Amino acid sequence: MSIRPIEYRDGAIRMIDQRLLPTQEVWIRYRDYQSVAEAIRSMVVRGAPAIGVAAAFGVAFGARDIAAAGFGEFYAELEKVCATLAATRPTAVNLFWALDRMRTRARQLAGSPLDDIRTELLNEALAVAAEDEAINRAMGRHGAVLIPDGARILTHCNAGALATGGYGTALGVIRAAVESGKSVSVLADETRPFLQGARLTAWELHKDGIPVTLICDNMAGALMRQGEIDGVIVGADRIAANGDVANKIGTYSVAVLAREHGLPFYVAAPLSTIDRNIADGDQIPIEERDAIEVTHCGATRLAPEGIRVRNPAFDVTPARLVTAIITERGVVRGDYVAGLAQLFREHR
Ligand code: MRU
Repeated sequence: MSIRPIEYRDGAIRMIDQRLLPTQEVWIRYRDYQSVAEAIRSMVVRGAPAIGVAAAFGVAFGARDIAAAGFGEFYAELEKVCATLAATRPTAVNLFWALDRMRTRARQLAGSPLDDIRTELLNEALAVAAEDEAINRAMGRHGAVLIPDGARILTHCNAGALATGGYGTALGVIRAAVESGKSVSVLADETRPFLQGARLTAWELHKDGIPVTLICDNMAGALMRQGEIDGVIVGADRIAANGDVANKIGTYSVAVLAREHGLPFYVAAPLSTIDRNIADGDQIPIEERDAIEVTHCGATRLAPEGIRVRNPAFDVTPARLVTAIITERGVVRGDYVAGLAQLFREHR
């Protein structure tokens, strides 16, 4: 049983503070949209699908607390709640997907008593959370067949249970392969600067008894060259209509290395990560985070005071470097424009 990083109970969610893992397991309770927004911004909760789940609860809490006389006034306030949540992190499209889903549900209920709308919005947030885990399990089933028995798989960042409603995307595929009886081991890039690999991927795999070896980001190429890696699986924060993939900074370098060494490079992501309004990866907004994440490690300063720093949190891997995209509705390869569009057409 893998961890669920967001749990709803009695009008609030509790989230494990991912800034403190693995040394401290602290759960924080949130019962208003402003504090949920702050938790997303400060990365108490992170990972594209988990951000979407948290945001959905944020909207439900905002809706509960709106005092309005009629639907028009209620909906105008709900838009403000969504705007606050939308302003937290720009790259993971699951955030905007979840906000759109919640707004759409509210509009569908226009004319109903406001208390019924509030109840339904909470039900919608609960559905977003429950569906996310089910989607990851379906993705796992589709992806597990791509993993050979005995494979040593490199992953970057954390696309695990912690990054989702549960089970994980890239790590969900690993979990499904293991559950199907295969022996699989994982190499986890530490993932500078926020160390999601060292702190989160290593923690959750180790906890679940899946063999994991931690490496520094700059070791992947050498290990590939020495034949110690059989393939790569990562998650995604936003996939453009042409299959270009935005994911944690450093993913692009890993994809280039995989191509050089003839290794498969898989991306596992739900349909809610695919942004069909964006033609290619150049249009994906890339979050630039605070310099302190680069100049410091924890509380320790590594770099001189006053130094210029860049800290883009994500990069874009061109679709031509992606061997396949694993989704809950199947695996797409080759012509991503047609293949991704087909996934949406088939299940309208
Ligand atoms: O900055 P983060 O930790 O939110 O970035 C997370 C990633 O890049 C993950 O790989 C991505 O969201 C996929 S999570 C299933």
